[in-house]
Amino acid sequence: MPTYHIWTLGCQMNVADSLKLASGLDRIGWSESPDEGSADLFVINTCSVRQHAEDRAYGRLHQLRQQRQRGEQFQIAVMGCMVGPKTDDLQRRFPWVDVWARPQEYDPILTAAGVARDASEGEFWTETYGRPSGPTAYVPVVHGCDKFCTYCIVPLRRGRERSRPAAEVLDEVRYLAAHGVREVTLLGQTVEAYGHDLDEGADLATLFEGIEAIDGIVRTRFLTSYPKDMTDRIIDAVADLPKVCEHFNIPVQSGDDAMLERMRRGYTVAEYEERVEYIRKQMPHASLATDIIVGCPGETDEEFANTVALLERIEFDVIHVAAYSPRPGTFAYRKQVDDVPREVKRERLHVIEELHARSSSAINRQALGRQVEVLVEREQDGRSTGRTRGGQLVHFAGTGLVGQLVDVAVDEVTAWSLHGRLAGDLTLAVI
Ligand code: SAH
Ligand code: SF4
Ligand code: F3S
Repeated sequence: MPTYHIWTLGCQMNVADSLKLASGLDRIGWSESPDEGSADLFVINTCSVRQHAEDRAYGRLHQLRQQRQRGEQFQIAVMGCMVGPKTDDLQRRFPWVDVWARPQEYDPILTAAGVARDASEGEFWTETYGRPSGPTAYVPVVHGCDKFCTYCIVPLRRGRERSRPAAEVLDEVRYLAAHGVREVTLLGQTVEAYGHDLDEGADLATLFEGIEAIDGIVRTRFLTSYPKDMTDRIIDAVADLPKVCEHFNIPVQSGDDAMLERMRRGYTVAEYEERVEYIRKQMPHASLATDIIVGCPGETDEEFANTVALLERIEFDVIHVAAYSPRPGTFAYRKQVDDVPREVKRERLHVIEELHARSSSAINRQALGRQVEVLVEREQDGRSTGRTRGGQLVHFAGTGLVGQLVDVAVDEVTAWSLHGRLAGDLTLAVI
């Protein structure tokens, strides 16, 4: 039986795409290689969002070339966001790669695996759903992005917004539930844009409602939110529907209006804060995460200070921060100057990382002495790990609980996780 190995970089969308490819390869009789060094087909699912992500793929490609030079025989496929419409340049730089495939363009890889072309007009066997890999699963609901933020490569690589029909999404969730999945995360670059391009009048709240009725699923999550697309109806649905977790990932990117304008984000700081206020009014304990880019073209000290001030005002649970990385092909690359020195970017990154550690420590400390509900995701060496509804990572002693909802009494916290014991577990309590 031929074997494959998929190495995935980048975001949840890539993870979902890789599981779909794995599922398709399984269907045609391939199997995942237990040892990546011995696979007949090595697939790298790439990310282009920053130079660092591309460099990791390049490093791996050079290693694979060396393996080939040592006489090992296997095929190499590169898929994902590093692959644009034209591959001439990539082919010149990496002539040892056998197959290039754009994001969600599975055909070339299936062809390399010996399958005739996919006849489903690019959707790659719509009934081939992502392979479940535990009690949680990602479900892409809207592909691509229509926003064109000036710094961002994603729309150039993933194309325009395309929503999957609601019936198909719900069918996939039912399939996942039947295979042991308890929590689904609905994915889109701007997930609240779900349905805008469909005639059926469905929106993200329609999907939430549909999932409420699916037995086996106990939690629904969604990301990434885009403030302009977050309607009251969607926020109210999160507040009202028991399975939907009160956990929002809403990238703000900057806390300064002039910078937001140069990024072409399409909202002001006040508009962003208005959405956060509405969420907190409806769900005072909602957990909030955001993304920030520091050192975008022209970012002044004052603009950066406004970002810090916004982060201090809102007190996010999680802040993902990155230094600006110019991406060839984007508006920012062509028309704006990458003029913030590397050391300044690094310093700003550091300021936000410190702020994040402080704020998430403070938030996690609030859980001390309390019980939290955890969906157990995995176990190792006698310990289990899962997440709260708000997305906090929780570790506790105990096994045999993967896929279950349990209550954990928290007795220790760090900035990044909670530690505790199963509530009501007297044996553990006396240790
Ligand atoms: N759709 C989401 C996220 C897309 S990309 C949104 O609207 O925000 C994921 C994250 O990568 C972004 O939130 C941003 O913080 C970061 N990112 C995107 N392009 C970048 C670039 N050129 N340099 C540095 N970080 C970038
Ligand atoms: Fe990129 Fe902006 Fe689209 Fe997010 S909304 S994927 S940052 S273009
Ligand atoms: Fe995701 Fe990276 Fe593509 S963040 S959408 S894999 S560029």
